[in-house]
Amino acid sequence: MNNTTSPQLPSPYRLVELESVDSTNAEAKRLAEDGAPDCTIVWAKRQTSGRGRRGREWVSSQGNLYFSILLRLPYPMETMTQLSFVAANAVADAVAVAAPRGAFVNVKWPNDVLVEGKKIAGILMEGEPDIANGSFKWLVLGIGVNVANHPAVEEGAYPATSLAGQGVSGEGLDVAPLLDTLAKRFLAGLATWRNLGFGPIRRHWLARAKGIGGPVTVRLPGETIEGVFGALDENGELVLHLDGQPNRRISAGDVFIPQVPHEI
Ligand code: BTN
Repeated sequence: MNNTTSPQLPSPYRLVELESVDSTNAEAKRLAEDGAPDCTIVWAKRQTSGRGRRGREWVSSQGNLYFSILLRLPYPMETMTQLSFVAANAVADAVAVAAPRGAFVNVKWPNDVLVEGKKIAGILMEGEPDIANGSFKWLVLGIGVNVANHPAVEEGAYPATSLAGQGVSGEGLDVAPLLDTLAKRFLAGLATWRNLGFGPIRRHWLARAKGIGGPVTVRLPGETIEGVFGALDENGELVLHLDGQPNRRISAGDVFIPQVPHEI
C-alpha cells in the first residue's frame, strides 16, 4: 500500500480517515446531517460505490485519492458553482506538483483536470439547499485523483491517465502528500474567493483551460451541440458561440475538445 501516513492538515480541517466506504461524498453528506463542522474531510483508501458526475460510476480501487470536503458557507446559492473552480485549481496545482517535471496540466470545463490531454481527476459537488435563505445548508466537494491506476476508458469517453501512467513511481505515488498539498491549496483558494471574489479564481482557471476559443462538442441530456468555446462567464458558465444563432450559456454538461496533433 502506498499511503501509510496520515497528512497533518491545518486548521480548520478535521480529517475522517477510512479504509473503505461506499462513497466519501455519501459519508460526508451523512456526517453533514449529523452536524459535522465546516471543513470536515472524509478520506477513504477505496470506495465500493464511488460516484462521478451525471450519475456515472467512479471506479475506486486501492491506490488512488478519494476524498470529500464538507463546507458550510452562508453565501448565495448562485455563487456556489464557483467553488468547484476553486477546487479544480487546487487539484491542478497539486497534480502539477506530483506529476513528472514538465508534464502539461490542463483544466477542462467544468472541472476536470487533465495531464497530457488525459483526464486524471474529477470533482463532484453536491449540496443541500436552504430555500428560505437562498443558500445551501452544506456542500460536499468530492475529489478523485488517479494516482496508481485509472479505469479502462469506455467507447466515446475522454481518455484517462494516472500519475503512474505518466511515469511517476515509488514515493511519488503516496496519496497522503497529495491530499496534504491539495487541501492546503484549496484553503488558500477559498480565502482568495472569500476576499476577492471569483475574478482571480476564474483567471487562474483560464490560464490552464483547454479549448478556449476553439471548437467544442457539448453533450447535454437529450442534446448534443457543436460550437466554439467563447468564454467562461462571471458565474463559471461556458459561453458557447453558435453559427448564426445567439450564444448559449451552459451550466452543466460534458465537453469534448478535439485533440490537436502536436506539430514538430
Ligand atoms: C467526475 O465524474 O469527473 C467526478 C468524479 C468524482 C469522484 C470523487 S471520488 C471522491 C468522491 N466520492 C465519490 O463518490 N465521488 C467523488
